[in-house]
Amino acid sequence: MKSRIDAILQKSQAEYLDSILPPRDPLLQKMERYAEEHGHPIADPEVAQLMRLLVRVSSPTRVLEIGTNIGYSVIVMGRECGPDARIETIEIDPGTLDSARSFVREAELSAQVVFHEGAALEVIPRLSGPFDFVFIDCVKTEYGDYLDLVLPLLTPGALIFCDNLLWKGQIADGPRSERDVASTAALAAFNQRMTTDPRLLTTILPVGDGVGISVFG
Ligand SMILES: C[S@@+](CC[C@H](N)C(=O)[O-])C[C@H]1O[C@@H](n2cnc3c(N)ncnc32)[C@H](O)[C@@H]1O
Repeated sequence: MKSRIDAILQKSQAEYLDSILPPRDPLLQKMERYAEEHGHPIADPEVAQLMRLLVRVSSPTRVLEIGTNIGYSVIVMGRECGPDARIETIEIDPGTLDSARSFVREAELSAQVVFHEGAALEVIPRLSGPFDFVFIDCVKTEYGDYLDLVLPLLTPGALIFCDNLLWKGQIADGPRSERDVASTAALAAFNQRMTTDPRLLTTILPVGDGVGISVFG
């Protein structure tokens, strides 16, 4: 146990780090406003920045995102990918997917983007892969099932990036409402699995709502 375990997990530190985040381009700013106005749960800017960095250093060519929402993270990842890259992304809600298609069109990415409409647990078994970068950001009780389905589709060295692994503090402190009991238990089990599975090298960082970065193989 560190003697100053709370040394960086303080409000003032988080606010300072927020204050030095690079400004987003006008399209991403517009999407952040749209998400705020319409209650869409897009990635936090600091999570997006980490994702940007991971995509840039790993140069993936086959990306899978589970949970598209309005396409914010597709654009964040897509801006770091070249024309040889393909991003496949899954969203269950047709209206939300229409918004994502429209924003992604506006982004004029050079990478190819393939939108899959449907429940992730039904769509993933139909995908052939292989994938070298996976972003898991969907139904919290299903994270373990996504992992089961995705592992056979990964290339050696593939990165798995997961959002919401600290679940607003509830993994450490317990669920705050009846509604969060199942998701909290599922994410706690998922974290345990990610950090102990011998096929994965994982770190979980207190960025945003908690992110996991794993290397496969
Ligand atoms: C947290 S949001 C994704 C945010 C996005 N990755 C970003 O950062 O911009 C999760 C999305 O998953 C979608 N979703 C919920 N259940 C789903 C399911 N079973 N299969 C696929 N998508 C689902 C929701 O409609 C929502 O848009």
